[in-house]
Amino acid sequence: MYADLIIADPPYEQTSLSWDRWPAGWLTAAASVANAMWCFLPLRQFAMPPYRGQEFAAAGWRLSQDLEPAADTAEDHWTWEKHNGSGFSTDRLRRVHETVTHWYRGRWSAVHHQVPTVPGQIRPSATIAHRSQPTHTGRIRSAGYTYGPTRLARSVVRVRSAHGTAIHPTQKPVELLDLLIRYGCPPGGVVLDPFSGSGSTAIAARAAGCRAILIEADEAHCTRSAHWLATT
Ligand SMILES: C[S@@+](CC[C@H](N)C(=O)[O-])C[C@H]1O[C@@H](n2cnc3c(N)ncnc32)[C@H](O)[C@@H]1O
Repeated sequence: MYADLIIADPPYEQTSLSWDRWPAGWLTAAASVANAMWCFLPLRQFAMPPYRGQEFAAAGWRLSQDLEPAADTAEDHWTWEKHNGSGFSTDRLRRVHETVTHWYRGRWSAVHHQVPTVPGQIRPSATIAHRSQPTHTGRIRSAGYTYGPTRLARSVVRVRSAHGTAIHPTQKPVELLDLLIRYGCPPGGVVLDPFSGSGSTAIAARAAGCRAILIEADEAHCTRSAHWLATT
């Protein structure tokens, strides 16, 4: 494998813009360079024609998980709320979130995944002991049970959008990419972004101690990315 993780934010073909075309065969090409991938793609792309999920499966990708937004402000949630939203209909709710799907190939146990944890809740056993045990758990310990010092981070995160500072019209927040990279790429590993836009993935990869390979069709975006990387 040439890369440890792919971060892909492909054109969805949602608009008539010339760059907004789904590149045929890119999922098969991606499968030849890495066995793990985060991909930004709306649920609609899977549930409605052209049913992109079938293309993932045909290229050997298996869905591991998805990150979804929620109306929750807890620090340990992974939500990304867009500043203005991107809904194209006036009779639907304003869409201010993006779904990020995680894919892998081969054995899950062979795929790097460093699950982040957050501070847990410790309850003295004595407190628990005063309560009656819920019938569905049975008797776990003689004096009740305690939570550990950490627990898994939840699948929703709230990060600031790149609104106001973005150098690309669909730029993803570096803070969100940082989380995706730290989860899916080993320290010092290589992240490949085949639709790199602003180069945000490289900024996040560098912060996470990883290397990055960027591919971008638009030369002007490449020039702006290079400048951002050089000055950040
Ligand atoms: C959704 S944007 C990516 C934005 C990026 N994630 C960021 O944070 O800035 C998709 C990018 O893919 C580029 N693109 C479109 N078709 C491409 C292709 N066939 N190969 C490489 N890049 C392509 C577009 O020019 C556009 O910049």
